[in-house]
Amino acid sequence: MKQDVKQGVLLYAGKAKQVFSTDDPELLWVYYLDQATALNGKKKVAIDGKGTLNLHISGLLFKELAATGFPTHFVTDMDNQNMLVRRAKMIPLEVVVRNRASGHFVSRFNVTPLRVLDPAIHEFYYKSDALDDPFMNDEQIVALGIAPRATLDTLRTMADQVNTWLTARWARAGIELVDFKLEFGRLADGTLVLADELSPDNMRLIDAQTHASLDKDVFRQDEGPLVPVYAEVLRRLQATQQEVHHV
Ligand code: C5P
Repeated sequence: MKQDVKQGVLLYAGKAKQVFSTDDPELLWVYYLDQATALNGKKKVAIDGKGTLNLHISGLLFKELAATGFPTHFVTDMDNQNMLVRRAKMIPLEVVVRNRASGHFVSRFNVTPLRVLDPAIHEFYYKSDALDDPFMNDEQIVALGIAPRATLDTLRTMADQVNTWLTARWARAGIELVDFKLEFGRLADGTLVLADELSPDNMRLIDAQTHASLDKDVFRQDEGPLVPVYAEVLRRLQATQQEVHHV
């Protein structure tokens, strides 16, 4: 694997990314790995080129979302494998939003795949590999001191804002946003920001016309090579970038 991390000490090794320190204590490098995992890491494959594609997809979406004024950890994508971000103390929750039934929602409730869910559904999962990221309701989260109720309300509101923006952004690229997972953290001054990544590893995307999968489900379900699918997603995003006009 190509190792071109600029500098710094490895602070955190995740399944698809590694986080390194920089000279500035408030900034971190995120290194996007050429690796795909599913089933909480039980299925793990090296995929050449995936890291760069996810970095560019994530960087493009973070840049555009941040330009709307939404708070994120994004600073800039610097090269082909690393993104510079602001250090955030992560809230150990995965915030899932579902616009249509898919994945675990289908297996849990035995509903028709892609059934529209109106209003969109929010779910929280506790980030713990040892516990297999269990679902948690608000009272479980509050009683265990993971986050206060007011923070959960804010996370839902922020996730809705991301949903509205992302749904419209993908629609411009001829893609429908089925569901996605977000992670949030707090900057040193307490500001809540969207962190982690915005890529087809963390969202279900379908072609608006054919409903073909354009995300990690291709890997999860062994539907063929992942790289051409992610490359097509990036191509469509780049082709539908709008110029920002400053007045
Ligand atoms: O598997 P499930 O149906 O609960 O996933 C819902 C959404 O959250 C999907 O877009 C999936 O890619 C994302 N997800 C994730 N990381 C997890 C679990 C789910 O990005 N650990």
